[in-house]
Amino acid sequence: MRHVRKRTRCGAEEADMPKAEAPLRVVERYRELAALVQFHDVAYHQNDNPQISDAAYDELRRELNLISETYELSFDDKKIAFKVGAPVSGRFEKVAHAVPMLSLANGFSGEDIVDFDQRIRRFLGLTPEESLTFTSEPKIDGLSLSLLYENGSLVRAATRGDGYEGENVTANAFEIGSIPRQLRGCPYATFEVRGEVYMGTSDFKTLNNENAKNGGQIFANPRNAAAGSLRQLDAKITRSRPLKFFAYAWGAADGLPADTQAGVIEHFAAWGLPTNPLMRVCNSVDDLLTEYRNIEQKRASLGYDIDGVVYKVNSLALQRRLGFVSRSPRWAIAHKFSAEQAITVLEGIDIQVGRTGALTPVARLRPVTVGGVVVSNATLHNEEEIARKDIRIGDSVVVQRAGDVIPQIVAVQFEKRPETSVPYQFPDFCPVCGSHAARESRADGKTDAVKRCSGGLICSAQQVERLKHFVSRNAFDIDGMGDKIIEEFHGNGLVRSPVDIFTLQRRDRESGSLLKEMDGWGEASVAKLFAAIESRRTIGLDRFIFALGIRHVGETTAKVLARAYPNAWQFRDAMVSASDTAHSARSELTSLDGIGEAVAGSLVDFFSEKQNLEVVVQLLEEVTATPPIAVRTDSEVTGKTVVFTGALEKLSRDEAKATAERLGAKVSGSVSKKTDLVIAGPGAGSKLKDAEKFGVKVISEGEWLAIVEKHEV
Ligand code: IVH
Repeated sequence: MRHVRKRTRCGAEEADMPKAEAPLRVVERYRELAALVQFHDVAYHQNDNPQISDAAYDELRRELNLISETYELSFDDKKIAFKVGAPVSGRFEKVAHAVPMLSLANGFSGEDIVDFDQRIRRFLGLTPEESLTFTSEPKIDGLSLSLLYENGSLVRAATRGDGYEGENVTANAFEIGSIPRQLRGCPYATFEVRGEVYMGTSDFKTLNNENAKNGGQIFANPRNAAAGSLRQLDAKITRSRPLKFFAYAWGAADGLPADTQAGVIEHFAAWGLPTNPLMRVCNSVDDLLTEYRNIEQKRASLGYDIDGVVYKVNSLALQRRLGFVSRSPRWAIAHKFSAEQAITVLEGIDIQVGRTGALTPVARLRPVTVGGVVVSNATLHNEEEIARKDIRIGDSVVVQRAGDVIPQIVAVQFEKRPETSVPYQFPDFCPVCGSHAARESRADGKTDAVKRCSGGLICSAQQVERLKHFVSRNAFDIDGMGDKIIEEFHGNGLVRSPVDIFTLQRRDRESGSLLKEMDGWGEASVAKLFAAIESRRTIGLDRFIFALGIRHVGETTAKVLARAYPNAWQFRDAMVSASDTAHSARSELTSLDGIGEAVAGSLVDFFSEKQNLEVVVQLLEEVTATPPIAVRTDSEVTGKTVVFTGALEKLSRDEAKATAERLGAKVSGSVSKKTDLVIAGPGAGSKLKDAEKFGVKVISEGEWLAIVEKHEV
């Protein structure tokens, strides 16, 4: 699992230092980094499809943290850096975590653990002689899950999401055999158990083998397989996947059964929850490090992936005193295992061209097994990185894989270098379209590390990547139009621009419905694809903007833009006008939250390209981009949690939900004591009973409609 290398000291001593206000260029870089981190968070956590190595990600986060630690930033900017993980995907119902699900700080050496112990002692005012007890346990490489038990019954399960809001995966959690639906002897009305969902290594291999046979999805590692299996809209798929769970923490709870970490976990086991058998209580840093070595030795034979050992202060009273620092508890640390390495030969360097023209070098390696996985590619980051490490084709190189999806080259074995070898010459031209490729100068006067193809839309690699982005899950989300199909349709000329997707059916009909005759296609699959495309003719303006694939415009920025402009046409007009830096449209744009000169610049660049403008105009003739619904902040149900149950006569379930959301209410699927209002129709059953049990107000559909009408203009 990806974690942030957090090497900053997190003691109280850093708290009161006055900081200088960040200069504009730093704020811009900060926002740019935040957008990048967010993009990669989404790729990793949400799409289970990381685009960069952990090390490259850590580097982005390091720079982001450095800025936030050095400079004073606005409240909104600080909020960006505080977010962990990725925002929820919007496919599952959202769940707000009453107690945030935060991250752990990382340690990489014994020295880091000595520092951890000292930091805690300093914070608590303990001398080195005074005893301080910790727990140690494996750090499971899966994904965290929060299980809400009410009176011992499992009522809700939620993923971590961004730490504050996760996805409701209750139906899926019910399908995981090791998660009990009932706790034995848990005396609390509300108790939120937290832990890790994971897939065993042999189950992972079997699943991948089966999927390879049936043409199903191949997962890069057990963590991705677990994430992909849990976050399934169809819980039957989750049931068919061998997921497991270990409980190691808790969230909101009416009370706790013990006053130590180890004590609570013992109760978890007694209640029937699976807990890790390797948890130990340790009385010193030496004990912790001994346990680290013990667990590391057992690592290969555990049957599930772990990526380190977690140490927690055992006393809950001390945990409370220690509290949290930004994204992680002061009372815990993850001691990560060092990466696994192997030596192989660099056979070639391939240059991949991304959606925005970035040329990314990828090492083609003689296949080698690194920590049980065959590796044949590694990231080389960029031109500078190759030059800095003097990596040459034909070199013997050390490849490292750190629980990582994309391995890296960490060193060259210069002594083995062939005499004929020559320094690698990074191309000055795009390998796909032949356009000139150059490194741009940045706002801070430095040159960008990334070389970009200047071909724009004439570059077929950029066209393909843009199309892939356009149809991807968080953009137009066209079911069944995966990377392979985009490549096929682009290759045979059927789809060159996003507009072509929406004219495909028409053109196919006019030319005699030939698509179904193509290799690999048939009547049913073509009909299915057309239906998927048709279902996306109406789309939220934010997704529309995000789908355009404008550099620096991620989902968050797209949402900000969608809220700021009344409709797609006015958005387009404003972007065209904003190319004049003296025009009011420019200052309106840069006054928006999170939009600095870098983002504004790339928006303007995009809309000043004639071809792009044409695509936008033609697209808007094919699809309707709907502005976000205005949510009321002043209704009597704003911020309240409501539940609909029984048969509704006037409203469909979806419509009922939409009315509540427009009034700023949250809709939940189950009644708990946190529910504020239940709208019950005829035939309401257990939810109505629950409402009576918890004393929740119950109204009829008619009464609900009266509330809705009162607020709708
Ligand atoms: S304790 C306040 N214990 O690691 C944080 N986390 O890097 C409480 N993880 O989000 C987390 N094994 O997904 C804890 N034994 C363990 C863990 C563990 C894996 C994951 C968890 C967490 C992440 C933080």
